[in-house]
Amino acid sequence: MSTGTSGDYWKDKALPSVFKHDLLKRYLPQFGGMLSGQSHDKRVVYLDGYAGEGRYENGEPASAEIALRVASHFHAQRGVTVEGFFTEAQPRSFERLQEVVESYRRRGVLAHAHRGEVDGVLDSVIQRAAGRPLFLFLDPCGLVLPQDRLVDVLARQRPHKKPVPGRWGRAGG
Ligand SMILES: C[S@@+](CC[C@H](N)C(=O)[O-])C[C@H]1O[C@@H](n2cnc3c(N)ncnc32)[C@H](O)[C@@H]1O
Repeated sequence: MSTGTSGDYWKDKALPSVFKHDLLKRYLPQFGGMLSGQSHDKRVVYLDGYAGEGRYENGEPASAEIALRVASHFHAQRGVTVEGFFTEAQPRSFERLQEVVESYRRRGVLAHAHRGEVDGVLDSVIQRAAGRPLFLFLDPCGLVLPQDRLVDVLARQRPHKKPVPGRWGRAGG
């Protein structure tokens, strides 16, 4: 069951999102730069499971566009593919998200927008990330995926390593 954003959420960025996005901006490039060499095809997989609209109404990038910008930079400058999956359950938000994702796809960024619950795409994203570093960005405004489900998913992605779930945890390192 999805819980959507309401009111003015997408008008412009509120303070918690300033911190959250700052972490994402700093951490995702480090992740891509340090770990892309661990996959045979210089690719890392990224899932924004609760992506929202991707961009605020004032034009500022939200989490999806922040990741897409990083992916675009890596694609053009470093020969590294950040393959992005962006999931949004709320239909209106999804429409806007899809436009943002499409605009980056046209520039050659490998990115997929999915309308629906994050749990519905998780297994296919994990399959896609087999042998590749995986970055999960899970930022719900309602219920998050159950911890057991996350542990199970991360254990499958890293069969020989202990999963490190956590608020800003990562897999693949
Ligand atoms: C906090 S907002 C996302 C903000 C976005 N990550 C950002 O930082 O720009 C959470 C979003 O998750 C969506 N959502 C809620 N439950 C969901 C689910 N089970 N699967 C996918 N999306 C969901 C909501 O509609 C909402 O747009």
